[in-house]
Parts: sequence; C-alpha cells; structure tokens
Amino acid sequence: GKPIRVALLGCGTVGAEVVRLLTDQAADLTARVGAPVELAGIAVRKPNKHREVPAELLTTDAAGLVASDVDVVVEVIGGIEPARTLLLDALRAGKSVVTANKALLAEHSGALFEAADASGADLYFEAAVAGAIPLLRPLRESLAGDRITRVMGIVNGTTNYILSGMDATGAGYGEALEEASRLGYAEADPTADVDGFDAASKAAILASLAFHTRVTAADVHREGIAAVTAADVAAAKGLGRTVKLLAICERVTSASGEESVSARVHPAMIPRSHPLAGVGGAFNAVFVEADAAGEMMFYGKGAGGAPTASAVLGDLVAVARNRVVAGRGPRESAYAALPVRPMGQT
Ligand code: HSE
Repeated sequence: GKPIRVALLGCGTVGAEVVRLLTDQAADLTARVGAPVELAGIAVRKPNKHREVPAELLTTDAAGLVASDVDVVVEVIGGIEPARTLLLDALRAGKSVVTANKALLAEHSGALFEAADASGADLYFEAAVAGAIPLLRPLRESLAGDRITRVMGIVNGTTNYILSGMDATGAGYGEALEEASRLGYAEADPTADVDGFDAASKAAILASLAFHTRVTAADVHREGIAAVTAADVAAAKGLGRTVKLLAICERVTSASGEESVSARVHPAMIPRSHPLAGVGGAFNAVFVEADAAGEMMFYGKGAGGAPTASAVLGDLVAVARNRVVAGRGPRESAYAALPVRPMGQT
C-alpha cells in the first residue's frame, strides 16, 4: 500500500529509541501494517546534538513538519506547549496522533479528544502511563464491555525505587533518594516524582479511561513521599505491611444511587501478601477490578527509553493499520460527566 508517513516530534531518550526500532524493524512493520511506515522528519531544538539519527530528517520547524505531507504525528517532547498546539493542529488536519505526554493528556484530553473526533483522526497514548505495560488499550478496548470499578497501582518508578530501598535497608527518605539519583533512577529534579505530580497525571488519565469520564490532574488528591520516614517504614514492617505510593481511582455509588469518581495519590501501607507489595525497584504495576472480569494485574517496566518506545511503536502500528483500512480506533468525545469527589467526603 501507499506509505504511512510519520513525523516525529522530539528525539530524546524515547525518541531516539523510536527511530532505532522503526529503522531496525522496517520490514516487519511493513508486513504487519500492510504498508511501509516511513519516517518523514524529526523535529528537534538542536539538530547538531542528534548525530545518532539521519541528518537529512532533522528539522527545527516542528509546525512545518506537522503541516507537511504526513499521516501520523508522534510526539515525545513532553510538557504542555508547544506539544498542545502542535497536536491540536495535527488532529484538526485529520492526522493521527501518538503521544507519550501524560502532563498534556491529564490537563487537555478533552480538547484533544474533541479535535480527534471532529476530524476522524486517531489519538493513542499507551506510553503516557506505565511505560511499556499494555494498560490503556485494555482499559479503552478490551474492557469496554465491562464495568470497571477500581484501578489501583504503582505508576511511578522513581518513588517505588526509593520506597523499596527504604523497606529493604531501613534507610531514611533522604538517603534513599540520594541512592536513586546516584544510580540514575531519579531525575536531576525529582520534584514531579516525589511530590506525586507524575502519578497524579497518570491517575487522571486512568480514571478518565476506566470510567469513561473526564478527570484532570487538578481533580486528583495528591500527597507525595517526602514525608515518609524510616520509622514509618519500620512500623509498617512490624505490622506485616509495606509502604507504597499508590494511585487509586474508584467508581463510587452513593446510597441514593448517584455515581461519582474518587481519584487520589498517596503513600499507603499495604499488606505484604497483596500482589502490589512485591513490586520492587523501578517497576510499575496496576491492579484493575471490573464487575464481570474480576481482578487482574498489569506488571512491567514503567519507564526507560526502550520500554516506552515499545508502547509508542505499538500505537504507531495501530494507527497505521487503521489508516490502511480507512478506519479508526475508539472515540472518546462521548462520555458521561461523573462528578469527582473531594477527599474526605463520604
Ligand atoms: N519519572 C517517571 C517514573 C517516568 O519515575 O515513573 C515514567 O513516566
């Protein structure tokens, strides 16, 4: 078939892996999609810093690349702007979008979904939550015929690494954070992770998809791990428990039958026998409960260049396949506006 032309926005750790996988697996991807998947260009800020990718593909003109003759826009820049404007432009022009941008989706998914549905374009974002773990597609598609009641999990690898370290060695928070930074598990500025902002964005995305409603990061009650002490972890241990930073999204039905959503991120003491208690290091795991399906758990690598690129490539294959058959993935602009419960309200 006619080649599917792809614009890549951003070429950091994840973007470089996307380019590598696209190049190395070109023949397999062509066979799976039914048409060649061609990289048309890569928008970056500083072209001379990207010697690992073909120089002729690099451009500093992201808007020009999006407006050019491309079918799919893959965004791995992160942050709200310019990503928001670029992706809205792409969707309005009927181009499919694949993004790993959790902050953008947690704040502006409504506008993005509406733009996608107005033009009939696809919007896929598996890499935005829990990296490589297939989780959003199962919530959006595989479980679309069920009624999900709860999504609860460890969606931040940095804080899980720190808390697992405190549990294993008895170290204090500061010492465990230092160790995580030294080994490259924590970012130079770990604020978004340790204060729970990263997990809150992911919780907003999970709650929106699981309950077919709109939840933004600002709706999520948020408490990070900076106040967790060695004594807290020791006390938990004494009770046969361990401390984990959990994102908890629940469907709540009041006595009078009114439905609402509760979404929160906070450290929690969980029994060591719980499947989430054994999730160590920088891994992620998400426990899902649905009426008919019952309980299930998704587990794997939640961050890193190659694991995140795996999720991006999976989405790219999905949207490319949809274009080959002139079809599209699930629509999200039709939704039920469930109220989000403030914390502490019963
Ligand atoms: N900083 C994030 C984490 C990266 O630690 O999980 C993945 O979103």
